[in-house]
Formats: sequence, C-alpha cells, structure tokens
Amino acid sequence: MKLLHVDASPRGETSSSRALSHFFVDQLRFRMPALEVDYLDLAAEAPPAITETFTSATYTPEEERSAAMRAALAPSDALCRRLLGADALLFAMPMHNWTMPASFKAFIDMIVRGGLTYVATEDGRYIGQLGGRRTLFLTTRGVDLRPGTPFAAMDALTPALRAAFGFIGVADPNFVDAQPLQFARAAERADAFARARRELIAVAEDWAGAPALSRAG
Ligand SMILES: Cc1cc2nc3c(=O)[nH]c(=O)nc-3n(C[C@H](O)[C@H](O)[C@H](O)COP(=O)(O)O)c2cc1C
Repeated sequence: MKLLHVDASPRGETSSSRALSHFFVDQLRFRMPALEVDYLDLAAEAPPAITETFTSATYTPEEERSAAMRAALAPSDALCRRLLGADALLFAMPMHNWTMPASFKAFIDMIVRGGLTYVATEDGRYIGQLGGRRTLFLTTRGVDLRPGTPFAAMDALTPALRAAFGFIGVADPNFVDAQPLQFARAAERADAFARARRELIAVAEDWAGAPALSRAG
C-alpha cells in the first residue's frame, strides 16, 4: 500500500499533529511492513496561491493552454499526480481559527482539478476520482469541540474537509480529532493525547485488515 502522508502544521519538533501523524504511520508500518510512504510537508513546501493565469488555465482546454498557463498549473498537476498515485491518504493539521491552516487550504486549491481529480459529465454530474482510497484526517485543536461542549458549534474544519474531499471522491473518511490539547488542564490534555493514540491504533488495525500479531497474542 502506498500512503500519501501530508503534514500541515507550521510548527516543527513541537507540533502535536506531526507527532500524532508519525505515531499513526509507525502503527501502520508495524502492521504493514511493505507500506510505502510519500511524505509531503506543507510548511516546507507551501503550495502556491491561485493566480489569474492559473484560474484562466483551468477553464482553457488542455491543447489550447499557453506556456504561461501550463507553468501556472504545473505545481497543481504534480500534486494531483501524487494524490492519484496513492492508495491511502493521511492529512494531519492543527485547527487554526476554527478551520484548516492556510497552507492546507492552498493545498486543496491545488488538488481540486477538473479532468484530474474530478470529472464533469455531459449530463451535469461531477464524479470524484479519488474513490476507494482509505483516508484519515487527523486534526489537533486547542479547545474541546466535541458534541455537547460549548465550542462544538465552532467546528468549521470537519465540514470543510468533508465537502472538499467528498467532491473529489473521498467517501467515508476516518477522523481522529485530538482535543483539547492547549487550553485545558494538564490531565485533560494528557487524556486527549491518549484518546487520540487509541483511536489511531484502531484506524491502523482497520486499514491493515487485522490487529498486529503481537497485539492479537
Ligand atoms: C494561529 C492559531 C490559531 C488557532 N486557532 C485555534 C482555534 O480556532 N481553535 C482551537 O481549538 N485551537 C486553535 N489553535 C490551537 C491549535 O489548534 C492547537 O494548539 C493544536 O494542537 C496545534 O497543533 P500543532 O502543534 O500540530 O500545530 C490555534 C493555534 C494557532 C497557532
């Protein structure tokens, strides 16, 4: 299985989403030793912002695109190829101002591409091209936004991820949301990390098809 692993936190060594995403990959590799990983760090390789040339290029048939248009689309073409070339997808990010970090939004703007990651049919339907890929969204949050908490209604991250990736064919993704990791007592933060790690192990077991031998006894 080839996994595309994307990290989006601007923080490095101290990032909790990076620590948890690497924990997940270790858990998966333990169960699937042949796992191949394509790693993309959006803090190190920020996707470019959408430009006017990019916009007009996406509405211009491929054979009519100018050299400038093809150049503007090149980073997006490359990211779409990486996405389509993976069997499984892991997207890890912190919540920033109730939604995704800007780098991840820029990534989405690069990978939602007509003719590549979705196809429009003559009868007006849109067919996402990423069907059949295991997908995990791993998010870290400073406060607790679980149902029933005062901040629950502020979660603009989960629906945004579901919408953008649902459009390109990602069905039934897994979500592991580690929360509260910042604005809470130390014991609550420790519980949140432990809960997230348990959920990540369960996803790794599910993706691998069976518990690891050592865990199964
Ligand atoms: C610019 C910025 C905005 C943030 N906005 C939110 C927010 O809206 N809600 C929230 O729960 N936490 C928010 N946080 C806290 C982070 O989501 C939290 O600390 C997370 O664990 C950071 O993950 P990381 O270490 O991988 O970057 C914000 C942090 C930063 C730096």
